[in-house]
Amino acid sequence: MSTPSAARLVTFADPAALAAGAAREVTRIVRAAVADRGTCALVLAGGSTPRRLYEALAGEPYRSEIDWSKIQLFWGDERCVPADDCASNYAMARQALLSRIPIAERAVHRIAGELEPERAASLYEEELRRLVGGAVPRLDLVLLGLGADGHTASLFPSASNAPDEERLVIATLSPEPPRHRVTLTPRVLNFARTVMFLVHGEEKAGVVREVIAHDMGGPPSRLPAANVRPLDGTLLWFLDSAAASALGP
Ligand code: 6PG
Repeated sequence: MSTPSAARLVTFADPAALAAGAAREVTRIVRAAVADRGTCALVLAGGSTPRRLYEALAGEPYRSEIDWSKIQLFWGDERCVPADDCASNYAMARQALLSRIPIAERAVHRIAGELEPERAASLYEEELRRLVGGAVPRLDLVLLGLGADGHTASLFPSASNAPDEERLVIATLSPEPPRHRVTLTPRVLNFARTVMFLVHGEEKAGVVREVIAHDMGGPPSRLPAANVRPLDGTLLWFLDSAAASALGP
């Protein structure tokens, strides 16, 4: 097994600067993927943190710098709610990004949160395998958030059973509503070319320190985010100064 890559950490003064810096880096990575392979499989994060980033990507210069006709959009997880529900990760991205960029509907691959969770998970796994291919689909850029409890996507510390090693997409239960979720598994996250965590706020500082400090050479962490480290790729931590405040000099 290849040695997991080291993480690259970039800190910004505040959430607005973080979003601007992340938009620059996302655009750079996406353009490089399109130049190298003619396409880019971009996985959007849920929650509230990425909204500013999506709004920045929907504005100039990034809206024009990215050739949206070459992008395939996916989600790292979804709440099991209708696509127009205010809790839907797809709904947030549609409002902040999709409604403002020239991307074809056929290139937007949302998780069907309106379906029974296990069915939504198996359908999404089939779609991911069909569109990206490979025994384990190699996604170009995966955006992730971080919960104060160390969860990422919808992989929660409370999960009683570790996900089936073979699965790429599973149904999970969140301790917070909406409880039913669908999420990519660590297997496919760790096969990505680049994973970018985007975190802001003082309330995340402690868990950021614990997650980044996790030794991947040891046993898996109880914190799902600590077990995300691309086996043959790049791990980026994009933080504001508040979220980085427990990391020390
Ligand atoms: C979700 C996200 C989840 C999120 C973290 C951080 O569906 O909620 O996938 O993992 O990224 O909970 O959420 P905030 O950005 O709102 O703090």
